[in-house]
Amino acid sequence: MHQLSFFQELKTKSPPVRRYFSHNGVCSDEARQALEKQYAPLLVETGKFNRQLVSFQANKTEILHGWFKYREGFSAELVELLFDELQIQPADTILDPFAGSATTLLAAQLHGMNGVGIELLPHCHLAWQAKSAVFDYNLDELRQVRSLVEESSPPPVAEPFPHLTITESAFPPQVEADLMAYTRWFEKLDVGPRTKMLCRFILMSLLEDVSYTRKDGQYLRWDRRAEKIRRHNEKRQAQGKKPIRGIDKGAIPTVKQTFLERLSKIIVDVSRLQAEQKRPESGRQELIEGSTLYILPTLPADSFDAVITSPPYANRYDYTRTYALELAYLGIDDKIFNLRQNQLSCTVENKSKENDLRAFYHSMGQGQQFERILTIVGTNEVLAEINAALATRYERGEVNNRGILTMIAQYFLELTFVFAELYRVCRRGARVAVVNDNVRYAGEIIPVDTLSTALAEQVGFAPKKIYVLPQRKGNSSQQMGRFGREPLRKSITIWQKV
Ligand SMILES: C[S@@+](CC[C@H](N)C(=O)[O-])C[C@H]1O[C@@H](n2cnc3c(N)ncnc32)[C@H](O)[C@@H]1O
Repeated sequence: MHQLSFFQELKTKSPPVRRYFSHNGVCSDEARQALEKQYAPLLVETGKFNRQLVSFQANKTEILHGWFKYREGFSAELVELLFDELQIQPADTILDPFAGSATTLLAAQLHGMNGVGIELLPHCHLAWQAKSAVFDYNLDELRQVRSLVEESSPPPVAEPFPHLTITESAFPPQVEADLMAYTRWFEKLDVGPRTKMLCRFILMSLLEDVSYTRKDGQYLRWDRRAEKIRRHNEKRQAQGKKPIRGIDKGAIPTVKQTFLERLSKIIVDVSRLQAEQKRPESGRQELIEGSTLYILPTLPADSFDAVITSPPYANRYDYTRTYALELAYLGIDDKIFNLRQNQLSCTVENKSKENDLRAFYHSMGQGQQFERILTIVGTNEVLAEINAALATRYERGEVNNRGILTMIAQYFLELTFVFAELYRVCRRGARVAVVNDNVRYAGEIIPVDTLSTALAEQVGFAPKKIYVLPQRKGNSSQQMGRFGREPLRKSITIWQKV
């Protein structure tokens, strides 16, 4: 397991306590100040967890974890550090209720621990299926597929790519034809189902590379050569407007070339892991598909020894848009609207799930648990202060989208349901680590780390530590122009069921 260097340990200190949360003192921030003082003794700034570890960056070159670029993921190295921090033992069962590309689960699997995850989006499930089968692939078959792709090409098929409206014209025409030809060709190959699944995964994982799009922060950026951008610009020009510039991705690689590169890297990883690492004892390894809000309440009480997770941040980031190509490829069609709504409320489009949750808890005979959680949310003074501050900012014309108010209110409501259920499903003594970012809207700082800790404490957890990364998060240029610069904390909160 990971050894911390003396140097890393040395870098631990108490971060400065924030004195104000509302730009120019426009709104009351007393409750946020009191919260900051209350949890100041738990705040620890440490070089042990840095920005690179908390992002996917460190995974890019990692054996196995680098197979699917999930920018929103954290690194396997971070998970290993947290195994130490949470004192996880080999036979323990770890839960990640927002599993994403399954970094926590894979790290658990490789260390012989049990891992259970919950994830809403289907492309993450295919990534998990492909990666978690690493010890089961038949290397001869994988090499056979590589030779076949090197030496021949699939017959063309007439079938179009199953586009969503937002993905139309994302690929050059030949790439689009190749994607479908390879898809159908691999399905008919004389190889086992696991190899076929891996081929499908590789095709899904290379979609961004061979497309006119690039995932960039909250958006999918488009190359100006895409037909959608060209048509849009023709319209703008007809109206006397300047064309939008779009990005230039340079030469778009072929499906064949990209597939071969990826398969070759996978063959290297599979050979290394199968040769070097002892196949982990097959414990419980499971990724459950669906919304954590509705799955956690169905899991048995007192069944997990630790939780390592990172929920979507309250930053308007819509995973269903960023991963639209991958979802379209998997044939998601209009189910995408459900997926979007079912995400933890982190976009301005999310509507309240309160009524659905009420009906769900009542249908399970858990009406009392629902009311208890709702009361915790409804009586939290910090949350009330933040909601009121955002409403004031909206009335002053400083919040450009009313959806931000709903998003923040619902984000914490839903997180409290998650925390309460985590408390229920954790065994006594279990520890929880949650990675998240503080955010700021219209000059109002929302201390996600301390507020989450307060809500977790209200549902029963004992707060243990709030690790703060030495690097802070910047603000959007819009926010800085109007409200100045306020670096925000990125944190890992640690709680325990005592
Ligand atoms: C920050 S990412 C987690 C990344 C993960 N730690 C990794 O290393 O890949 C948050 C994940 O939560 C998922 N998610 C959002 N809302 C969800 C919900 N209601 N239920 C289950 N998963 C959800 C998103 O699809 C996303 O994959």
